[in-house]
Amino acid sequence: METLTFRRDLSQQPKSETERAEILANPGFGNYFTDHTAVVDYSVDAQGEGSWHDARIEPYGPIALDPSAAVLHYGQEIFEGLKAYRHADGSVWTFRPEANAARLNTSARRLALPELPASVFLDALRELVSVDAAWVPTGDGEALYLRPFMIATEPFLGVRPAREVSFRVIASPAGNYFGGELHPVSIWLSEHYARAGRGGTGEAKCGGNYAASLAAQLEAEAQGCQQVLFLDQFNDNAVDELGGMNVFFVFKDGRIVTPELNGNILHGVTRSSVLEIAKERGLHAEERKITLQEWKDSVADGSLAEVFACGTAAVITPIGELKTSTGSIVTPAAEGEPHWKAIRAELLGIQTGTVEDTRCWLTRLV
Ligand code: COI
Repeated sequence: METLTFRRDLSQQPKSETERAEILANPGFGNYFTDHTAVVDYSVDAQGEGSWHDARIEPYGPIALDPSAAVLHYGQEIFEGLKAYRHADGSVWTFRPEANAARLNTSARRLALPELPASVFLDALRELVSVDAAWVPTGDGEALYLRPFMIATEPFLGVRPAREVSFRVIASPAGNYFGGELHPVSIWLSEHYARAGRGGTGEAKCGGNYAASLAAQLEAEAQGCQQVLFLDQFNDNAVDELGGMNVFFVFKDGRIVTPELNGNILHGVTRSSVLEIAKERGLHAEERKITLQEWKDSVADGSLAEVFACGTAAVITPIGELKTSTGSIVTPAAEGEPHWKAIRAELLGIQTGTVEDTRCWLTRLV
């Protein structure tokens, strides 16, 4: 197992306790950042050997990049998202980080970036959260969102994989992704844009996929919707995923269905956790193609019970309605306690230490 020692530069004055308390009182999502960042650099030497080096914790702040850095021109970039949770005894834990480390490397292979040893990934999280532990919020549904990312820093305009790369982790105290209390969201059906195509980067977690979703996201917002749904128009209008989260359907007969991992769809860590929890709760889980037509038909014939989005940022958020240019598909009103609510409570309970972690999903950071 590869290890690097993280040097610590704690010279910069952190935000004051008062400022931090004000931020933690209402963090929202992605608005504020902790005092430090973890950095590990990579370069290829004259013999063509690449290595990770210069692991360090440094003050949070702007990155000095050459204007010709490859990431600024060709988007050679990948990222991850996971959270740190404070437990009642003060300890801080994270959820299935090995899955994020593995997915980062799958994304790295697709974007021709170097793989990062999982041990270095984990050490970077641990080091950062150790120095910024005071930033882990404790409110209901709140956590410290960790954003690892890897960028091509080499100054070079030729189109080839960069030989200088930087891996970084930043951290941001986070509440509900959609702001305020948890409410069902409305989503807009993107009819003109695709998020991914066969052989593309759909299952990689790279900035380009999210940039490609933004024009459709603007349409969604103009329609009063919070997220956008993409379909695979070349595959019978199969449901793909939302701009930034996976999607699930629960049927009244106890089936829970999510689109299968067909190369277009992000291998969501929350997605896979939901599948496991749902199976254990007696639901029949299916990973398969689900078309827009099936969605419409199952609302019309009364067999559909719930639709929800899930992701690290979104946790589990019910979808109340899919709006399209020709009308809207409204999720039926819940009859009794919805499954999404129970699955969400179990997931958050495991993450925050109030439900037993029988699957060893948690890793202690501090
Ligand atoms: C996450 O859920 O961690 C993501 O990266 C999605 C993004 C919409 C915040």
